[in-house]
Amino acid sequence: MKIKSYRFMNTNFEIIVGIIKNRRTIKPFMMNGQKIDNEQITKLLELADWAPNHGLTEPWRFVVYANPSDFCSAHAELYKQNTPADEFAQGVYDNLAHQGDKASHAIVAVMHRGNLPKIPAFEEMAATACAIENILLGATALGFASYWGTGGMILKPAMRTFLSLRDGDEVMGVLYLGHADEQPTGVRRIPLSEKVKWA
Ligand SMILES: Cc1cc2nc3c(=O)[nH]c(=O)nc-3n(C[C@H](O)[C@H](O)[C@H](O)COP(=O)(O)O)c2cc1C
Repeated sequence: MKIKSYRFMNTNFEIIVGIIKNRRTIKPFMMNGQKIDNEQITKLLELADWAPNHGLTEPWRFVVYANPSDFCSAHAELYKQNTPADEFAQGVYDNLAHQGDKASHAIVAVMHRGNLPKIPAFEEMAATACAIENILLGATALGFASYWGTGGMILKPAMRTFLSLRDGDEVMGVLYLGHADEQPTGVRRIPLSEKVKWA
């Protein structure tokens, strides 16, 4: 795209600053149960598809649940089936089973290893993380609440089996999208100056 003027560029920058700084983790229990149209979710997935990626492997894959409870009940069952009886906690099971009750959609994000061995796995995960961030930022721009989580069984081998992953593929997390009545304030604990060195 040809940038027509500095003024145009400046406006775009202000817009993206607003979106990035307004993206906040809003956990699914803070959502209000209001649904998002599947068409809007599709638009977010189209944004994901424009993430940078090395070698055009396009490693992001998504499993979309328009009814998050379908995923959450399976998640809770994975916990039950893969936890020794003396460690099993009914509260954890119930939390997992009901985690998405107030969300609109759950999207499981997977890194699907491409067939270019010269591309390191971390680059495929980085590209998939960029695709996920595109979804979160698009969701913010549309006024949706979003959450990216890896808790429960998400990173356990049982989830890989549930999702029929191949060797080299990785589960990147589950995204919950929905609506919320309140927006939490963002927190950063380490000053940017400690994270950046101008060489
Ligand atoms: C890869 C990844 C995994 C995460 N997993 C969890 C999680 O399992 N549980 C949780 O409470 N938050 C999780 N989060 C959300 C973070 O807690 C959240 O991003 C952090 O508190 C910063 O808040 P912000 O997103 O509003 O900037 C995860 C975030 C990322 C990027």
